[in-house]
Amino acid sequence: MLVNKAIFPVAGLGTRFLPATKAQPKEMMPVVDKPLIQYAVEEAYAAGVREMIFVTGRHKRPIEDHFDMTFELEVALEQAGKQELLDVVRSVKPDDMECIYVRQAQALGLGHAVLCAQRLVGNNPFAVLLADDLMVGTPPVLKQMVDQFKEWRASILAVQEVPAEQTKRYGIVAGTAVNDRMIDVTSIVEKPASDVAPSRLGVAGRYILTPGVFHEIAAQPRGVGGEIQLTDGISGLLRREKVFAFRYEGKRYDCGSKEGFLQANVELALAHPELGSGFREFLRGLEV
Ligand code: UTP
Repeated sequence: MLVNKAIFPVAGLGTRFLPATKAQPKEMMPVVDKPLIQYAVEEAYAAGVREMIFVTGRHKRPIEDHFDMTFELEVALEQAGKQELLDVVRSVKPDDMECIYVRQAQALGLGHAVLCAQRLVGNNPFAVLLADDLMVGTPPVLKQMVDQFKEWRASILAVQEVPAEQTKRYGIVAGTAVNDRMIDVTSIVEKPASDVAPSRLGVAGRYILTPGVFHEIAAQPRGVGGEIQLTDGISGLLRREKVFAFRYEGKRYDCGSKEGFLQANVELALAHPELGSGFREFLRGLEV
């Protein structure tokens, strides 16, 4: 049982980032020099995933174009002898990686988006990556989860401690610790207020799920916000199968929010091998 398929739901409306997201998907917004979606695809590739399934919406073209071959650009770079840039362009889609697109006609929620990929996933375990959660970890966060999956053979949700006043932004899990990183989940609830949240462990945008979750999502009525929630599907799955929460090692930037996006740009620019030192000097010179 290998995790060879990943779903990237990219059909959300991105209302928190208007007007930038009025005519382009938020997943195409660049952090330093790469669009968010490329970070997520690279993370999946590093975890061994080779089949990338994008659930797209109205403004899907830029994402398809990004992972397509750009023949004229490659010829121009080749003729100009710009081998380094050519390598950069070609590395966006390695030859052994497959990109598949499926449309979510209406943004009915994350659970619904995942369900749109059911036929492409079939009866296999799969990953879900929300590209607006930019994860920085060594090894990459999804790789950490795949390694856990090999051992536990059950669905795994990435979690982190969130401040009490922020539980209403996350799926929150409760359960029993099986070791210092893994929690055997007993319940999961979408966006609870802090006074009713079962814990402060919030689900970040990385999941490994067993195919049984499709049936559970399909059986759910609309949940919080009138959307078909992935959390509710996972809650159904819990009644039939084991589900674990995994405290990953690494840092998460919520790039669906303006604040998180700015933080990611600053920290990744500082860590950038070519830009880092100059950018640090620039920041030092600012009177803040
Ligand atoms: P969000 O909760 O961030 O919603 O979705 P959103 O619409 O993208 O953004 P805001 O809150 O309005 O600013 C989480 C993830 O699920 C995808 C989004 O693209 C994002 O990656 N999604 C959400 C879908 O693909 N379809 C949906 O119907 C809803």
